[in-house]
Amino acid sequence: MGKETQNMWSYAPALEGTGHLTIQKKYGLFINGEFVKPNSGKYFKSINPANEELIAEFAEANEKDVDLAVKAARTAYDKTWSKMPAKERGKYIYRIARMMQERARELAVAECLDAGKTIREARDIDVPLACNHFFYYAGWADKLNEAFPGKKPKSLGVAGQIIPWNFPILMAAWKIAPALATGNTVVLKAAETTPLTAMILAEIIQESGLPNGVVNIITGAGKTGAALVKHPDVNKIAFTGSTEVGKLIQKSIAGSGKKLTLELGGKSANIIFEDAPLDQAVEGIVNGIFFNQGHVCCAGSRLFVQESVAQKVIEKLKFRLESLIVGNPLDKNTDIGAINSKAQLETIEKYLKIGKEEGAEMFQPKCDLPKKGYYCPPTLFLDVAQSNRISQEEIFGPVLAIQTFRSIDEVIQKANNSPYGLAAGVWTDKGSRIFNLTTQLRAGVVWANTYNKFDPSSPFGGYKESGFGREGGLHGLTAYLKFD
Ligand code: NAI
Ligand code: MG
Repeated sequence: MGKETQNMWSYAPALEGTGHLTIQKKYGLFINGEFVKPNSGKYFKSINPANEELIAEFAEANEKDVDLAVKAARTAYDKTWSKMPAKERGKYIYRIARMMQERARELAVAECLDAGKTIREARDIDVPLACNHFFYYAGWADKLNEAFPGKKPKSLGVAGQIIPWNFPILMAAWKIAPALATGNTVVLKAAETTPLTAMILAEIIQESGLPNGVVNIITGAGKTGAALVKHPDVNKIAFTGSTEVGKLIQKSIAGSGKKLTLELGGKSANIIFEDAPLDQAVEGIVNGIFFNQGHVCCAGSRLFVQESVAQKVIEKLKFRLESLIVGNPLDKNTDIGAINSKAQLETIEKYLKIGKEEGAEMFQPKCDLPKKGYYCPPTLFLDVAQSNRISQEEIFGPVLAIQTFRSIDEVIQKANNSPYGLAAGVWTDKGSRIFNLTTQLRAGVVWANTYNKFDPSSPFGGYKESGFGREGGLHGLTAYLKFD
Protein backbone atom coordinates (compact mmCIF):
# COMPACT_ATOMS: atom_id res chain seq x y z
CA MET A 1 0.00 0.00 0.00
CA GLY A 2 1.37 3.40 -0.90
CA LYS A 3 1.98 5.33 2.25
CA GLU A 4 1.20 8.43 0.15
CA THR A 5 -2.50 7.67 0.16
CA GLN A 6 -2.58 6.59 3.74
CA ASN A 7 -1.00 9.53 5.34
CA MET A 8 -0.16 13.20 5.12
CA TRP A 9 3.54 12.31 5.10
CA SER A 10 5.09 9.80 2.79
CA TYR A 11 7.80 7.43 3.87
CA ALA A 12 9.59 4.68 2.02
CA PRO A 13 8.85 1.37 3.74
CA ALA A 14 11.58 0.29 6.19
CA LEU A 15 10.83 -3.32 6.97
CA GLU A 16 12.73 -5.11 9.71
CA GLY A 17 14.15 -8.41 8.45
CA THR A 18 12.91 -11.70 9.80
CA GLY A 19 15.66 -13.94 8.41
CA HIS A 20 17.50 -14.27 11.70
CA LEU A 21 14.47 -15.73 13.46
CA THR A 22 13.85 -19.46 13.36
CA ILE A 23 10.35 -20.44 14.33
CA GLN A 24 9.59 -24.09 14.90
CA LYS A 25 6.41 -25.54 13.45
CA LYS A 26 5.29 -26.95 16.77
CA TYR A 27 6.26 -26.12 20.33
CA GLY A 28 5.94 -28.50 23.27
CA LEU A 29 5.60 -27.59 26.93
CA PHE A 30 8.75 -26.61 28.82
CA ILE A 31 8.65 -28.83 31.87
CA ASN A 32 11.58 -29.90 34.03
CA GLY A 33 14.11 -28.49 31.60
CA GLU A 34 12.74 -30.30 28.55
CA PHE A 35 10.32 -29.56 25.75
CA VAL A 36 7.67 -32.25 26.08
CA LYS A 37 4.53 -33.27 24.23
CA PRO A 38 1.29 -32.41 26.02
CA ASN A 39 -0.74 -35.19 27.63
CA SER A 40 -3.78 -33.60 26.09
CA GLY A 41 -2.36 -34.48 22.66
CA LYS A 42 -3.78 -31.13 21.55
CA TYR A 43 -2.13 -28.15 19.93
CA PHE A 44 -3.53 -24.72 19.14
CA LYS A 45 -2.49 -22.19 16.52
CA SER A 46 -1.09 -18.76 17.07
CA ILE A 47 -1.37 -16.40 14.15
CA ASN A 48 0.19 -13.14 13.13
CA PRO A 49 -2.61 -10.62 13.61
CA ALA A 50 -1.02 -8.29 11.04
CA ASN A 51 -1.74 -10.68 8.15
CA GLU A 52 -3.64 -13.62 9.69
CA GLU A 53 -0.86 -16.05 8.73
CA LEU A 54 0.02 -19.01 10.93
CA ILE A 55 3.01 -18.47 13.24
CA ALA A 56 3.25 -21.92 14.82
CA GLU A 57 1.33 -24.50 16.83
CA PHE A 58 1.61 -24.61 20.59
CA ALA A 59 0.79 -27.35 23.07
CA GLU A 60 -2.39 -27.11 25.07
CA ALA A 61 -1.61 -28.12 28.64
CA ASN A 62 -4.33 -30.02 30.49
CA GLU A 63 -4.63 -30.72 34.24
CA LYS A 64 -2.15 -33.58 34.03
CA ASP A 65 0.42 -31.36 32.30
CA VAL A 66 -0.13 -28.62 34.86
CA ASP A 67 0.39 -31.19 37.59
CA LEU A 68 3.67 -32.37 36.01
CA ALA A 69 4.88 -28.78 35.76
CA VAL A 70 3.98 -28.04 39.39
CA LYS A 71 5.65 -31.28 40.52
CA ALA A 72 8.81 -30.35 38.62
CA ALA A 73 8.78 -26.92 40.23
CA ARG A 74 8.25 -28.43 43.70
CA THR A 75 11.09 -30.91 43.32
CA ALA A 76 13.41 -28.22 42.01
CA TYR A 77 12.42 -26.00 44.94
CA ASP A 78 13.00 -28.68 47.59
CA LYS A 79 16.13 -30.22 46.17
CA THR A 80 17.99 -27.43 44.44
CA TRP A 81 16.78 -23.88 44.33
CA SER A 82 15.87 -23.25 47.97
CA LYS A 83 19.20 -24.77 49.04
CA MET A 84 21.39 -22.87 46.62
CA PRO A 85 23.33 -19.91 48.02
CA ALA A 86 21.56 -16.70 47.03
CA LYS A 87 24.64 -15.43 45.23
CA GLU A 88 24.59 -18.47 42.93
CA ARG A 89 20.92 -17.90 42.21
CA GLY A 90 21.78 -14.35 41.23
CA LYS A 91 24.38 -15.59 38.74
CA TYR A 92 21.79 -17.65 36.88
CA ILE A 93 19.45 -14.69 36.67
CA TYR A 94 22.24 -12.48 35.33
CA ARG A 95 23.04 -15.14 32.75
CA ILE A 96 19.44 -15.28 31.56
CA ALA A 97 19.45 -11.46 31.26
CA ARG A 98 22.63 -11.50 29.17
CA MET A 99 21.40 -14.29 26.92
CA MET A 100 18.15 -12.42 26.34
CA GLN A 101 20.17 -9.39 25.33
CA GLU A 102 22.16 -11.49 22.89
CA ARG A 103 18.90 -12.63 21.30
CA ALA A 104 17.20 -9.25 21.63
CA ARG A 105 16.63 -8.73 17.93
CA GLU A 106 15.13 -12.17 17.56
CA LEU A 107 12.86 -11.63 20.54
CA ALA A 108 11.73 -8.24 19.24
CA VAL A 109 10.84 -9.61 15.80
CA ALA A 110 9.09 -12.62 17.31
CA GLU A 111 7.03 -10.33 19.54
CA CYS A 112 6.17 -8.14 16.60
CA LEU A 113 5.01 -11.11 14.51
CA ASP A 114 3.02 -12.93 17.18
CA ALA A 115 1.46 -9.96 18.98
CA GLY A 116 1.06 -7.43 16.17
CA LYS A 117 2.91 -4.75 18.09
CA THR A 118 5.20 -2.39 16.24
CA ILE A 119 8.85 -3.32 15.84
CA ARG A 120 9.78 0.08 17.26
CA GLU A 121 7.94 -0.66 20.48
CA ALA A 122 9.12 -4.27 20.75
CA ARG A 123 12.73 -3.35 19.99
CA ASP A 124 12.98 -0.17 22.08
CA ILE A 125 10.67 -0.91 24.98
CA ASP A 126 9.48 -4.47 25.53
CA VAL A 127 12.69 -6.40 25.02
CA PRO A 128 15.18 -4.02 26.70
CA LEU A 129 12.84 -3.57 29.67
CA ALA A 130 12.40 -7.33 29.95
CA CYS A 131 16.21 -7.80 30.03
CA ASN A 132 16.50 -5.00 32.57
CA HIS A 133 14.02 -6.68 34.89
CA PHE A 134 16.23 -9.76 34.96
CA PHE A 135 19.34 -7.64 35.55
CA TYR A 136 17.64 -5.61 38.27
CA TYR A 137 16.29 -8.59 40.21
CA ALA A 138 19.51 -10.56 39.78
CA GLY A 139 21.10 -7.84 41.88
CA TRP A 140 18.63 -8.33 44.72
CA ALA A 141 19.05 -12.11 44.98
CA ASP A 142 21.82 -12.01 47.60
CA LYS A 143 20.67 -8.81 49.30
CA LEU A 144 17.26 -9.79 50.60
CA ASN A 145 18.35 -9.46 54.24
CA GLU A 146 19.57 -5.94 53.51
CA ALA A 147 16.37 -5.16 51.63
CA PHE A 148 14.25 -6.21 54.60
CA PRO A 149 16.50 -5.73 57.65
CA GLY A 150 15.58 -7.78 60.68
CA LYS A 151 12.58 -9.34 58.94
CA LYS A 152 14.12 -12.66 57.89
CA PRO A 153 12.61 -12.91 54.41
CA LYS A 154 11.81 -16.43 53.18
CA SER A 155 10.70 -17.74 49.84
CA LEU A 156 7.16 -19.08 49.41
CA GLY A 157 7.75 -22.19 47.29
CA VAL A 158 6.10 -22.66 43.89
CA ALA A 159 4.69 -19.62 42.11
CA GLY A 160 1.97 -20.03 39.47
CA GLN A 161 2.04 -17.11 37.08
CA ILE A 162 -0.46 -16.21 34.38
CA ILE A 163 0.25 -13.49 31.87
CA PRO A 164 -1.70 -11.65 29.17
CA TRP A 165 -1.03 -10.94 25.51
CA ASN A 166 -0.30 -7.23 25.52
CA PHE A 167 3.33 -7.39 26.71
CA PRO A 168 4.20 -11.08 26.38
CA ILE A 169 7.97 -11.14 26.99
CA LEU A 170 7.90 -8.19 29.35
CA MET A 171 5.18 -9.73 31.51
CA ALA A 172 7.10 -13.01 31.59
CA ALA A 173 10.14 -11.09 32.86
CA TRP A 174 8.09 -9.13 35.42
CA LYS A 175 6.82 -12.39 36.81
CA ILE A 176 9.81 -14.72 36.57
CA ALA A 177 12.69 -12.45 37.61
CA PRO A 178 11.48 -11.45 41.11
CA ALA A 179 10.22 -14.98 41.80
CA LEU A 180 13.66 -16.44 41.09
CA ALA A 181 15.53 -13.72 42.97
CA THR A 182 13.50 -14.47 46.08
CA GLY A 183 14.21 -18.21 45.79
CA ASN A 184 10.89 -19.45 44.45
CA THR A 185 10.37 -21.80 41.53
CA VAL A 186 7.91 -21.07 38.76
CA VAL A 187 5.20 -22.40 36.51
CA LEU A 188 4.31 -19.68 34.02
CA LYS A 189 1.41 -19.84 31.60
CA ALA A 190 1.70 -17.67 28.51
CA ALA A 191 -1.34 -16.12 26.81
CA GLU A 192 -2.96 -18.13 24.03
CA THR A 193 -2.55 -15.53 21.26
CA THR A 194 1.09 -14.72 22.08
CA PRO A 195 3.03 -17.79 23.23
CA LEU A 196 6.04 -17.43 20.91
CA THR A 197 8.44 -15.27 22.94
CA ALA A 198 7.67 -17.27 26.08
CA MET A 199 8.89 -20.38 24.26
CA ILE A 200 12.02 -18.57 23.04
CA LEU A 201 12.59 -17.56 26.66
CA ALA A 202 12.20 -21.24 27.57
CA GLU A 203 14.96 -22.06 25.04
CA ILE A 204 17.15 -19.39 26.62
CA ILE A 205 16.46 -20.74 30.10
CA GLN A 206 17.30 -24.27 28.96
CA GLU A 207 20.55 -23.07 27.41
CA SER A 208 21.43 -21.03 30.50
CA GLY A 209 21.82 -24.20 32.51
CA LEU A 210 19.29 -23.12 35.12
CA PRO A 211 18.59 -26.28 37.12
CA ASN A 212 15.74 -28.33 35.66
CA GLY A 213 12.29 -27.48 36.93
CA VAL A 214 13.15 -24.08 38.41
CA VAL A 215 11.21 -22.42 35.59
CA ASN A 216 8.50 -24.29 33.71
CA ILE A 217 6.62 -22.59 30.90
CA ILE A 218 3.31 -23.93 29.71
CA THR A 219 0.83 -22.86 27.06
CA GLY A 220 -2.93 -23.09 26.76
CA ALA A 221 -5.97 -20.90 27.29
CA GLY A 222 -8.22 -20.08 30.25
CA LYS A 223 -8.76 -23.71 31.24
CA THR A 224 -5.02 -24.26 31.60
CA GLY A 225 -4.76 -21.08 33.67
CA ALA A 226 -7.62 -22.19 35.91
CA ALA A 227 -5.96 -25.58 36.47
CA LEU A 228 -2.77 -23.84 37.57
CA VAL A 229 -4.69 -21.55 39.93
CA LYS A 230 -6.51 -24.51 41.49
CA HIS A 231 -3.49 -26.75 41.88
CA PRO A 232 -3.12 -27.50 45.61
CA ASP A 233 0.67 -27.44 45.61
CA VAL A 234 1.05 -23.88 44.33
CA ASN A 235 1.93 -21.34 47.05
CA LYS A 236 1.42 -18.13 45.16
CA ILE A 237 -0.55 -16.90 42.19
CA ALA A 238 0.48 -13.84 40.22
CA PHE A 239 -1.98 -12.80 37.54
CA THR A 240 -2.11 -10.01 34.99
CA GLY A 241 -5.16 -9.77 32.78
CA SER A 242 -8.83 -8.83 32.81
CA THR A 243 -10.67 -7.74 35.94
CA GLU A 244 -13.26 -10.40 35.20
CA VAL A 245 -10.75 -13.27 35.36
CA GLY A 246 -8.97 -11.61 38.30
CA LYS A 247 -12.18 -11.78 40.28
CA LEU A 248 -12.70 -15.44 39.33
CA ILE A 249 -9.19 -16.26 40.52
CA GLN A 250 -9.67 -14.46 43.81
CA LYS A 251 -12.84 -16.46 44.43
CA SER A 252 -11.31 -19.75 43.43
CA ILE A 253 -8.35 -19.50 45.83
CA ALA A 254 -10.23 -17.97 48.78
CA GLY A 255 -9.33 -19.84 51.96
CA SER A 256 -6.55 -21.85 50.30
CA GLY A 257 -3.73 -19.87 51.93
CA LYS A 258 -2.22 -19.09 48.53
CA LYS A 259 -0.70 -15.66 48.27
CA LEU A 260 -2.11 -13.54 45.45
CA THR A 261 -1.22 -10.49 43.40
CA LEU A 262 -3.54 -9.18 40.70
CA GLU A 263 -2.71 -6.60 38.07
CA LEU A 264 -5.93 -5.92 36.21
CA GLY A 265 -7.51 -3.36 33.96
CA GLY A 266 -7.59 0.39 33.93
CA LYS A 267 -9.23 3.51 32.63
CA SER A 268 -6.47 5.95 33.37
CA ALA A 269 -6.86 9.72 33.22
CA ASN A 270 -4.46 12.03 31.44
CA ILE A 271 -5.03 15.56 32.72
CA ILE A 272 -3.89 18.63 30.79
CA PHE A 273 -3.88 22.02 32.54
CA GLU A 274 -3.85 25.30 30.64
CA ASP A 275 -0.26 26.09 31.66
CA ALA A 276 1.09 22.76 30.33
CA PRO A 277 3.56 22.65 27.43
CA LEU A 278 0.83 21.71 24.97
CA ASP A 279 2.89 20.19 22.16
CA GLN A 280 4.67 17.98 24.64
CA ALA A 281 1.35 17.07 26.22
CA VAL A 282 -0.08 16.08 22.85
CA GLU A 283 2.87 13.74 22.31
CA GLY A 284 2.24 12.36 25.77
CA ILE A 285 -1.40 11.72 24.98
CA VAL A 286 -0.46 9.95 21.73
CA ASN A 287 2.15 7.88 23.51
CA GLY A 288 -0.30 7.13 26.30
CA ILE A 289 -3.12 5.66 24.22
CA PHE A 290 -2.23 5.18 20.56
CA PHE A 291 1.15 3.52 20.58
CA ASN A 292 0.92 -0.20 21.22
CA GLN A 293 -2.64 -0.01 19.83
CA GLY A 294 -3.96 1.02 23.23
CA HIS A 295 -3.20 -2.51 24.48
CA VAL A 296 -1.78 -1.14 27.70
CA CYS A 297 -3.39 -1.72 31.06
CA CYS A 298 -2.34 1.77 32.18
CA ALA A 299 -3.21 3.44 28.84
CA GLY A 300 -4.26 7.07 29.21
CA SER A 301 -7.67 6.26 27.78
CA ARG A 302 -9.50 9.21 29.35
CA LEU A 303 -8.32 12.71 28.53
CA PHE A 304 -9.33 15.69 30.67
CA VAL A 305 -8.41 19.06 29.16
CA GLN A 306 -8.85 22.37 30.91
CA GLU A 307 -11.61 24.21 29.09
CA SER A 308 -9.54 27.30 28.22
CA VAL A 309 -7.14 25.22 26.09
CA ALA A 310 -9.46 22.42 25.04
CA GLN A 311 -10.02 23.61 21.51
CA LYS A 312 -6.33 24.16 20.92
CA VAL A 313 -5.36 20.75 22.31
CA ILE A 314 -8.03 18.96 20.29
CA GLU A 315 -6.92 20.70 17.10
CA LYS A 316 -3.30 19.75 17.73
CA LEU A 317 -4.33 16.22 18.56
CA LYS A 318 -6.37 15.82 15.37
CA PHE A 319 -3.45 17.17 13.35
CA ARG A 320 -1.10 14.72 15.04
CA LEU A 321 -3.47 11.82 14.42
CA GLU A 322 -3.42 12.59 10.69
CA SER A 323 0.29 11.86 10.71
CA LEU A 324 0.15 8.55 12.59
CA ILE A 325 0.94 5.56 10.42
CA VAL A 326 -1.25 2.51 10.92
CA GLY A 327 -0.11 -0.68 9.29
CA ASN A 328 2.56 -3.37 9.07
CA PRO A 329 4.10 -3.72 12.54
CA LEU A 330 7.43 -4.80 11.00
CA ASP A 331 7.80 -1.42 9.30
CA LYS A 332 9.93 0.90 11.41
CA ASN A 333 7.76 3.86 10.38
CA THR A 334 4.60 2.31 11.79
CA ASP A 335 3.12 3.98 14.84
CA ILE A 336 0.08 1.77 15.32
CA GLY A 337 0.40 -1.91 14.51
CA ALA A 338 -2.21 -4.67 14.46
CA ILE A 339 -4.87 -5.30 17.07
CA ASN A 340 -3.81 -8.45 18.89
CA SER A 341 -6.71 -10.69 17.87
CA LYS A 342 -9.98 -10.77 16.00
CA ALA A 343 -11.82 -11.00 19.31
CA GLN A 344 -10.10 -7.88 20.62
CA LEU A 345 -10.85 -6.00 17.39
CA GLU A 346 -14.51 -6.95 17.77
CA THR A 347 -14.51 -5.63 21.34
CA ILE A 348 -13.03 -2.34 20.21
CA GLU A 349 -15.48 -2.03 17.32
CA LYS A 350 -18.34 -2.74 19.71
CA TYR A 351 -17.22 0.24 21.81
CA LEU A 352 -16.92 2.48 18.74
CA LYS A 353 -20.56 1.72 18.07
CA ILE A 354 -21.53 2.29 21.70
CA GLY A 355 -19.70 5.64 21.72
CA LYS A 356 -21.61 6.84 18.67
CA GLU A 357 -24.92 5.62 20.11
CA GLU A 358 -24.17 7.43 23.35
CA GLY A 359 -23.99 10.65 21.35
CA ALA A 360 -20.26 11.35 21.49
CA GLU A 361 -18.63 12.84 18.40
CA MET A 362 -16.18 10.43 16.80
CA PHE A 363 -13.04 11.52 14.97
CA GLN A 364 -10.77 9.22 12.96
CA PRO A 365 -8.05 10.41 10.57
CA LYS A 366 -8.13 9.27 6.98
CA CYS A 367 -6.15 6.08 6.63
CA ASP A 368 -6.16 3.07 4.37
CA LEU A 369 -5.95 0.01 6.54
CA PRO A 370 -4.27 -3.13 5.18
CA LYS A 371 -6.80 -5.52 3.65
CA LYS A 372 -5.72 -8.52 5.71
CA GLY A 373 -5.19 -8.51 9.43
CA TYR A 374 -6.84 -6.72 12.34
CA TYR A 375 -6.50 -2.95 12.41
CA CYS A 376 -8.21 -0.01 14.02
CA PRO A 377 -7.48 3.63 13.24
CA PRO A 378 -6.69 5.97 16.14
CA THR A 379 -10.01 7.30 17.39
CA LEU A 380 -11.09 10.30 19.44
CA PHE A 381 -14.46 10.68 21.11
CA LEU A 382 -15.39 14.28 21.86
CA ASP A 383 -18.20 15.57 24.08
CA VAL A 384 -18.09 12.48 26.22
CA ALA A 385 -20.19 12.39 29.39
CA GLN A 386 -18.89 11.03 32.65
CA SER A 387 -21.61 8.38 32.67
CA ASN A 388 -20.94 7.13 29.14
CA ARG A 389 -19.73 3.56 28.88
CA ILE A 390 -16.81 4.71 26.72
CA SER A 391 -15.55 6.77 29.66
CA GLN A 392 -16.18 4.11 32.30
CA GLU A 393 -15.25 0.77 30.69
CA GLU A 394 -11.89 -0.50 29.55
CA ILE A 395 -11.73 -0.66 25.74
CA PHE A 396 -8.10 -1.78 25.37
CA GLY A 397 -7.73 -0.22 21.94
CA PRO A 398 -6.56 3.05 20.33
CA VAL A 399 -9.65 4.93 21.49
CA LEU A 400 -9.53 8.12 23.54
CA ALA A 401 -12.52 9.59 25.42
CA ILE A 402 -12.15 13.34 25.85
CA GLN A 403 -13.78 15.55 28.48
CA THR A 404 -13.11 19.09 29.62
CA PHE A 405 -12.91 20.63 33.10
CA ARG A 406 -12.69 24.05 34.69
CA SER A 407 -11.40 23.63 38.23
CA ILE A 408 -8.91 21.38 39.93
CA ASP A 409 -11.49 19.92 42.31
CA GLU A 410 -13.74 19.08 39.39
CA VAL A 411 -11.01 17.19 37.53
CA ILE A 412 -9.93 15.25 40.62
CA GLN A 413 -13.51 14.20 41.21
CA LYS A 414 -13.97 13.21 37.56
CA ALA A 415 -10.67 11.37 37.29
CA ASN A 416 -11.39 9.39 40.45
CA ASN A 417 -14.90 8.56 39.30
CA SER A 418 -13.90 5.18 37.90
CA PRO A 419 -13.98 1.62 39.15
CA TYR A 420 -10.29 1.44 38.23
CA GLY A 421 -7.20 3.13 39.64
CA LEU A 422 -4.08 2.05 37.82
CA ALA A 423 -2.37 5.18 36.53
CA ALA A 424 -2.77 8.87 35.73
CA GLY A 425 -0.87 11.61 33.93
CA VAL A 426 -0.70 15.25 34.97
CA TRP A 427 0.53 17.97 32.60
CA THR A 428 1.27 21.34 34.17
CA ASP A 429 4.09 23.78 34.70
CA LYS A 430 3.28 24.09 38.37
CA GLY A 431 5.12 21.77 40.74
CA SER A 432 2.79 22.30 43.68
CA ARG A 433 -0.18 21.28 41.55
CA ILE A 434 1.57 18.07 40.63
CA PHE A 435 2.10 17.22 44.31
CA ASN A 436 -1.49 18.10 45.11
CA LEU A 437 -2.75 15.76 42.39
CA THR A 438 -0.41 12.89 43.18
CA THR A 439 -1.83 12.76 46.69
CA GLN A 440 -5.46 13.05 45.61
CA LEU A 441 -5.67 10.86 42.53
CA ARG A 442 -6.50 7.28 43.42
CA ALA A 443 -4.04 5.72 41.02
CA GLY A 444 -1.08 3.43 41.60
CA VAL A 445 1.19 5.48 39.34
CA VAL A 446 0.95 9.19 38.59
CA TRP A 447 3.22 10.46 35.82
CA ALA A 448 4.00 14.16 35.68
CA ASN A 449 4.66 15.74 32.27
CA THR A 450 5.28 12.33 30.77
CA TYR A 451 3.36 9.09 30.31
CA ASN A 452 3.93 5.32 30.15
CA LYS A 453 7.44 5.45 31.53
CA PHE A 454 8.73 2.29 33.14
CA ASP A 455 11.77 1.28 35.06
CA PRO A 456 12.46 -1.99 36.86
CA SER A 457 13.22 -0.11 40.06
CA SER A 458 9.82 1.58 40.34
CA PRO A 459 6.84 -0.33 41.63
CA PHE A 460 3.72 -0.63 39.50
CA GLY A 461 0.20 -1.68 40.42
CA GLY A 462 -3.29 -0.42 41.10
CA TYR A 463 -6.09 0.54 43.42
CA LYS A 464 -9.70 -0.62 43.41
CA GLU A 465 -10.63 -2.89 40.48
CA SER A 466 -7.18 -2.47 38.96
CA GLY A 467 -5.94 -5.04 41.44
CA PHE A 468 -3.53 -5.21 44.34
CA GLY A 469 0.10 -5.90 45.02
CA ARG A 470 3.00 -4.21 43.30
CA GLU A 471 5.41 -5.40 40.64
CA GLY A 472 8.82 -3.87 40.12
CA GLY A 473 11.24 -2.40 42.60
CA LEU A 474 11.68 -3.50 46.16
CA HIS A 475 7.91 -3.84 46.46
CA GLY A 476 7.96 -6.49 43.75
CA LEU A 477 10.10 -8.71 45.98
CA THR A 478 7.60 -8.61 48.83
CA ALA A 479 5.01 -10.37 46.73
CA TYR A 480 7.23 -13.46 46.64
CA LEU A 481 8.37 -13.51 50.27
CA LYS A 482 7.06 -14.32 53.72
CA PHE A 483 8.44 -12.77 56.86
CA ASP A 484 8.88 -14.12 60.37
P1 NAI B 1 -8.00 -12.68 30.11
O1 NAI B 1 -8.01 -12.12 31.49
O2 NAI B 1 -9.01 -13.72 29.76
O3 NAI B 1 -6.56 -13.32 29.80
C1 NAI B 1 -5.39 -13.10 30.53
C2 NAI B 1 -4.73 -14.42 30.85
O4 NAI B 1 -5.54 -15.17 31.75
C3 NAI B 1 -4.49 -15.34 29.66
O5 NAI B 1 -3.27 -16.02 29.83
C4 NAI B 1 -5.65 -16.32 29.76
O6 NAI B 1 -5.39 -17.56 29.17
C5 NAI B 1 -5.78 -16.48 31.26
N1 NAI B 1 -7.09 -16.92 31.74
C6 NAI B 1 -8.30 -16.76 31.15
N2 NAI B 1 -9.27 -17.29 31.92
C7 NAI B 1 -8.66 -17.77 33.03
C8 NAI B 1 -9.14 -18.42 34.22
N3 NAI B 1 -10.43 -18.66 34.41
N4 NAI B 1 -8.25 -18.78 35.16
C9 NAI B 1 -6.94 -18.52 34.99
N5 NAI B 1 -6.43 -17.94 33.90
C10 NAI B 1 -7.28 -17.55 32.93
O7 NAI B 1 -8.10 -11.47 29.11
P2 NAI B 1 -8.60 -11.48 27.57
O8 NAI B 1 -9.87 -12.24 27.45
O9 NAI B 1 -7.48 -11.88 26.72
O10 NAI B 1 -8.92 -9.94 27.37
C11 NAI B 1 -10.16 -9.40 27.81
C12 NAI B 1 -10.00 -7.99 28.29
O11 NAI B 1 -9.16 -7.97 29.43
C13 NAI B 1 -9.31 -7.05 27.32
O12 NAI B 1 -10.22 -6.52 26.40
C14 NAI B 1 -8.76 -6.01 28.25
O13 NAI B 1 -9.76 -5.07 28.55
C15 NAI B 1 -8.43 -6.79 29.50
N6 NAI B 1 -6.99 -7.13 29.59
C16 NAI B 1 -6.21 -6.47 30.50
C17 NAI B 1 -4.86 -6.72 30.57
C18 NAI B 1 -3.98 -6.01 31.54
O14 NAI B 1 -2.80 -5.89 31.28
N7 NAI B 1 -4.46 -5.58 32.67
C19 NAI B 1 -4.22 -7.65 29.66
C20 NAI B 1 -5.12 -8.35 28.78
C21 NAI B 1 -6.45 -8.07 28.76
MG1 MG C 1 -0.37 -14.57 17.85
